[in-house]
Amino acid sequence: MPSLAAKIFHPTARNLRMLASRLRAGELVAVPTETVYGLAANALSSAACARIFRAKGRPVSDPLIVHVERLAQIEELAVVTPAVRKLADAFWPGPLTLVLPKRAIVPDIVTAGGSSVAIRMPSHPVFRRLLRLTGLPLAAPSANPFGYVSPTSAEHVRDNLGSRIRFILEGGPAYIGVESTIVDLREPRRPVLLRPGSISAAEIGRVLGCPVRVRSSTKRATKGPQIAPGLLARHYSPATPVILHDSAADMSVSRNDEAYVFVRKPAGKRSLNCHWFDRRGNLAGVARTLFATLRRLDRAGYRRLHIEKAPGVDGLAAAINDRLRRAAAR
Ligand code: TXA
Ligand code: MG
Repeated sequence: MPSLAAKIFHPTARNLRMLASRLRAGELVAVPTETVYGLAANALSSAACARIFRAKGRPVSDPLIVHVERLAQIEELAVVTPAVRKLADAFWPGPLTLVLPKRAIVPDIVTAGGSSVAIRMPSHPVFRRLLRLTGLPLAAPSANPFGYVSPTSAEHVRDNLGSRIRFILEGGPAYIGVESTIVDLREPRRPVLLRPGSISAAEIGRVLGCPVRVRSSTKRATKGPQIAPGLLARHYSPATPVILHDSAADMSVSRNDEAYVFVRKPAGKRSLNCHWFDRRGNLAGVARTLFATLRRLDRAGYRRLHIEKAPGVDGLAAAINDRLRRAAAR
């Protein structure tokens, strides 16, 4: 076996052409997206997609998201209804994934044998150039080992998967920082939110002209392919135990071998084990730094991480708190 020491490639025209040809040859390339870095393979090749599951240590019961550059590509993969077009007009390219009835061309390994496929059109300019050059739909889950915190930089990918893949495309820090919103749109008039992201259920409902039901994230499917990530309570988890708090007022900084992480920079005197996600508590900033902060503190040797939840119940707060709850689940 050749050694697979991953190398980070800057997005020059030459590197992009080389990586596109590696993808067409069935190899894996870690790619930047606006949400988190993904581990991409040709979505039309079962053998290429099987490599994703091996590299991540991901169970094959967990289906993949397929990324495309243009709407016309989706028609080949899935059934496109007027509701899909409305959402595409409003939110694509961007951090929204739609679960749609699939066509036969999509290999079973992508959908975990199910009859639906999850599709999104990403907005990251570097990833879009690569998609255009390959001319293929690319299946890509987040580029982390199964169950660990998602990567928001090329270095995060190398830290985790450096010995299992060869190619990482540099695209700078992911500028949204939490994974895409997933909506089940198999029945266009009965949309269901499967995973909260930066695009809220309310915004989607406004565009569709009907309410979006929020699937409870604790239920677990008993059979068939896994319906969305919420089914695994423990996901996105650091190795250090995480304890969540509803507000900063509930967090007394009492031990110096534990970390205290606040949404915003606390006023007054602070000890070295006090941290914060965003200086002003801006939720877009919290989302952007969330996973990098969890990774950094996971390596700092603390016994436990006390973390303040984001204020609010919908939009970005829902997405952030969903990830925090999973990080805290044991
Ligand atoms: O922002 C994102 O969506 C990132 C970037 C790389 O695009 N991708 C991502 O992929 O978060 P992943 O695999 O970490 O999470 C996607 C989740 C899976 O856990 C799976 O449960 C759900 O999407 N999923 C995929 N196909 C599905 C389907 N046909 N029906 C229901 N859920 C599906
Ligand atoms: Mg993931």
